[in-house]
Amino acid sequence: MLVEDAPLERSLRPRRLAEYIGQERVKETLQVFIDASKQRGETLDHVLFYGPPGLGKTTLASIIAVEMGVSLRITSGPAIERQGDLVSILTNLKAGDVLFIDEIHRLNRAVEEVLYSAMEDFAVDIVLGKGPAARTMRINLPRFTLVGATTRLALLTGPLRDRFGSVLRLGFYSRAAMEEIVHRSARVLDVPISEEGVRALAERARGTPRVANRLLKRARDFAEVRGEGAITDKIASDALQMLDIDDLGLDEIDRRILRSIVEKFNGGPVGIDTLAAAISEETDTIMDVYEPYLIQLGFLQRTPRGRIATDGAYAHLGYEAPAESARQPVLFGGAKG
Ligand code: ADE
Repeated sequence: MLVEDAPLERSLRPRRLAEYIGQERVKETLQVFIDASKQRGETLDHVLFYGPPGLGKTTLASIIAVEMGVSLRITSGPAIERQGDLVSILTNLKAGDVLFIDEIHRLNRAVEEVLYSAMEDFAVDIVLGKGPAARTMRINLPRFTLVGATTRLALLTGPLRDRFGSVLRLGFYSRAAMEEIVHRSARVLDVPISEEGVRALAERARGTPRVANRLLKRARDFAEVRGEGAITDKIASDALQMLDIDDLGLDEIDRRILRSIVEKFNGGPVGIDTLAAAISEETDTIMDVYEPYLIQLGFLQRTPRGRIATDGAYAHLGYEAPAESARQPVLFGGAKG
């Protein structure tokens, strides 16, 4: 996410579960958990969210805190470098607080081990001193709720995953939900928008609220500078064209990924690292940010031998699909993740 978009995104985020659009199953499950733990007067059990970026993991963590009437502490896997960092965060929590750890799959092993006993026993063991004189001391923690988020469930270790009371998947939003979100965000931003404008933005936001809100903001700029302040059909499509976003919501990098597989690797299979090098992007960025939507569209396949561009991808790029026999066999480079 662009830094400049951060304050806007926060104000557009729903604060309560009832305001949250889409992800019906997740919402329903959370509502039951929240109601049950409130009825029992207990702290909510730990929750793990997984799925592609921009779908609402952080928003849901903050909604959980609001609904439970507790404070939220936000951090991320890479930010917690040493055991001591985590111990200090944990010992500063108040009873019932929500601790949100984003990119939890990137915690290092030593830190992760501290988290095990914190999650399970609400205690941490710290080692004082070195060598034969070393002593361990147990520190009790307040009961807290850990909300973890990851774009890669498969990278989480079994013991960590097992310590979450619920593991909830966030998928891409339906078209109807995306339209509702664009409507709501336009209302919050107080920008007039036509029905066609809503549809145009919702259609190209790749099922991702964060993208929808970004497109909306750009279209608003366009409306203010080139139009009369309202996002009409024409303003929306001009803004999308300027951003180089096509009818399916694909941007230049999405198209570069597909074009590279087609043009340089004969449609694949090609290993993800080779592909990343070919288009000078990071492997992780391709896997987390770009691939999920291309897979959802049916343009890309992950196979044990590498990535394949499908006939749909050929058609979208305006190429004729190759005969099955012409697809290149690949001897090196397998799929990761
Ligand atoms: N803004 C971003 N995501 C949203 C959602 N799921 N519901 C309502 N507003 C949102």
